[in-house]
Amino acid sequence: MGLINLNDILKPAQKSNYAVGAFNVYNIEDITAVLKAAQELNSPVILMTSNSALEHSSVEDLAAIITRRAKEMEVPVCLHLDHANDFETMVKAIDAGYTSVMFDGSSLSYDKNVEKTKEIVKVAHSLGVTVEAEIGRVGKSEEGDEDFETILSVPNEVKKFVNDTDIDACAIAIGTQHGMQTQAAEIDFERLSQIRDLVEVPLVLHGSSGVKDEELKIMGNKGIQKVNIGTRLKRVFTDTLRDKLASNKNLHNHITALNPCIDEVSKEVKYKMKMLGCNGKA
Ligand code: G3H
Ligand code: ZN
Repeated sequence: MGLINLNDILKPAQKSNYAVGAFNVYNIEDITAVLKAAQELNSPVILMTSNSALEHSSVEDLAAIITRRAKEMEVPVCLHLDHANDFETMVKAIDAGYTSVMFDGSSLSYDKNVEKTKEIVKVAHSLGVTVEAEIGRVGKSEEGDEDFETILSVPNEVKKFVNDTDIDACAIAIGTQHGMQTQAAEIDFERLSQIRDLVEVPLVLHGSSGVKDEELKIMGNKGIQKVNIGTRLKRVFTDTLRDKLASNKNLHNHITALNPCIDEVSKEVKYKMKMLGCNGKA
């Protein structure tokens, strides 16, 4: 089928009130696991690569693998650059074949965030690539080890930001934090509903490893169409690897150790997809 952009995945989701899982991938095992889950559940899917994934490999390597794999898939796949904060990386990713990018200017002043977001929107849109940007700030680092403050999004400011930038999807801060190891986020649904009433673009929830299952189930209906999940998959991968190695001290073939990680991550992705209601929506 080949890669498609965020609009092609999120517009139908918005129309039918479901949310699509956007999963952080770091290596070929993650990519295999997420795509296998999407194929088995007949679900659209968004694969995202963060800065640390790019440090581990590169936009060129990741785009080459994912673009090739997406061609073999029968479900819609979007390749999205996650939390980019510089223009060069975004352009490099677009050149490499990414169909969507996120500019994260959430630590900038409002005016600077708008200015930088508009720069990438101009380039991306001319090439059919979609742009997500963030207003308000979802705190904590991706690894969960730095304590950045979370600043909740202000409804009127979200409206102004979307109008000022012409973005395709807007990430908002409504109570989640990146890197949560337990599903303990306190979501401000009132704030979400106020924002939803003011803007038309699909809304994005970051830090969704921390969201309770019962709340994941209603996100699509409440106006969140893209739900970002990373930390939970890292946890499943590392727990599985640890157990596998600990239970067989004579295991010296890393592929034998990695295969169960693929299976477990894939199971977890399927579980989250079912919670979000994107299964069967391809
Ligand atoms: O952009 C990525 C997500 O917001 C992932 O957050 O790692 O806390 O699930 P998470
Ligand atoms: Zn995020």
